[in-house]
Amino acid sequence: MVSKIKRQLASLPLFAKAALLLLILLLLLAVILLPIFLIPHHHRAELPPASPGNNNGSTGPDDVVAFDFSPFLVMYKSGRVHRMDGTDRVPAGVDEATGVTSKDVVIDGKTGLAARLYLPRGGGKEEDPVSGALLPVLVFYHGGAFVIESAFTPKYHVYLNSLVAKAGVVAVSVEYRLAPEHPLPAAYEDSWRALNWVAKNADAGPEPWLRDRGNLSRLFVAGDSAGANIAHNMAMRAGNEGGLAGGAAITGILLLDPYFWGKKPVGAETTDQAKRRQYEATWSFICDGKYGIDDPLIDPLATPASELRKMACARVAVTVSGLDDFEERGKAYAAALRDSGWDGEVVQYETAGERHVYFLDAPKNPKSAKELAFAAGYLSRE
Ligand SMILES: *[C@@H]1O[C@H](CO)[C@@H](O)[C@H](O)[C@H]1NC(C)=O
Ligand SMILES: *[C@@H]1O[C@H](CO)[C@@H](O)[C@H](O)[C@H]1NC(C)=O
Repeated sequence: MVSKIKRQLASLPLFAKAALLLLILLLLLAVILLPIFLIPHHHRAELPPASPGNNNGSTGPDDVVAFDFSPFLVMYKSGRVHRMDGTDRVPAGVDEATGVTSKDVVIDGKTGLAARLYLPRGGGKEEDPVSGALLPVLVFYHGGAFVIESAFTPKYHVYLNSLVAKAGVVAVSVEYRLAPEHPLPAAYEDSWRALNWVAKNADAGPEPWLRDRGNLSRLFVAGDSAGANIAHNMAMRAGNEGGLAGGAAITGILLLDPYFWGKKPVGAETTDQAKRRQYEATWSFICDGKYGIDDPLIDPLATPASELRKMACARVAVTVSGLDDFEERGKAYAAALRDSGWDGEVVQYETAGERHVYFLDAPKNPKSAKELAFAAGYLSRE
């Protein structure tokens, strides 16, 4: 048998022998390399889409938690992001309770930058039908740790309707991009664009609610938690960039329980190392490691007084809540601003015995009504 094959091989021309040898070598190579290609391929395999009812646990060997940002979201190694809160949406329209009307506008279709606009009952003319005075303009940034919530969630829709009715302002609630899909500075960039879009439209249009009803001489920037962090950083940026589009200026900023943090504890801030490490890790997650925990974006106390003084607005209001981890830094921020030599007015509003942004979570709480009255008064007074 073997000698028969040998004889047949010997009778083959030289080029055929060489081709046969090459074929055998290639086969050997394939056998050696096959497992190398197969193993990593198996590990990279796409996971089947998780069913919506149960997308929080492990659905496969690869779907392990990469970052646990409970109670906001969990991100998995597969890249899947599961938001635990702030995912409901309500449509714009006429709010029965307040008579406030809202509508949605797209500011930039490429990035998805959008906003929900609010106008008080009768376009705000009922308050002062004779003079038809224009309304203060409010740009509002929602909170949610830069990772959850939206201008379109029930929580913010209800709050904006109440605030707009009480303050008599035309408001723009900004739908900015969220981390981790869009880490910082995406939210800051969107917020800056939206603010300049408002300034331009309140001046010359074409958006009629802003052009016809907005008084750009009374422009306010507000937000809660992460949104308050944004509001502060917008006023700082306006100071560093010489104002807004068309030379518009911010009258005041309103920071509701601002999300500020830093490396070293300030005042009576927690010294619990595990907790501080967690806050540092979540900030790093939000900005994908781009900014440290002492960056002025998250820690305004790290801003030199000479920089803080450039804040471009006439007044700042800060609210703090007694059971909030961020209370101490909110207070220290107000003090730092006063001490910096900045020539604006600083107002601080405190609520004892309540948690971070309690006024959004429990709008019927009498303390929430009081806080809302403070916010509305701040926006509507001359
Ligand atoms: C996962 O979701 C199910 C309901 O779909 C719930 O009962 C369970 O507690 C959740 N597990 C975790 C770890 O959140
Ligand atoms: C706009 O606001 C300024 C500053 O409060 C005020 O003096 C002015 O009368 C307002 N303009 C209108 C048309 O309401």
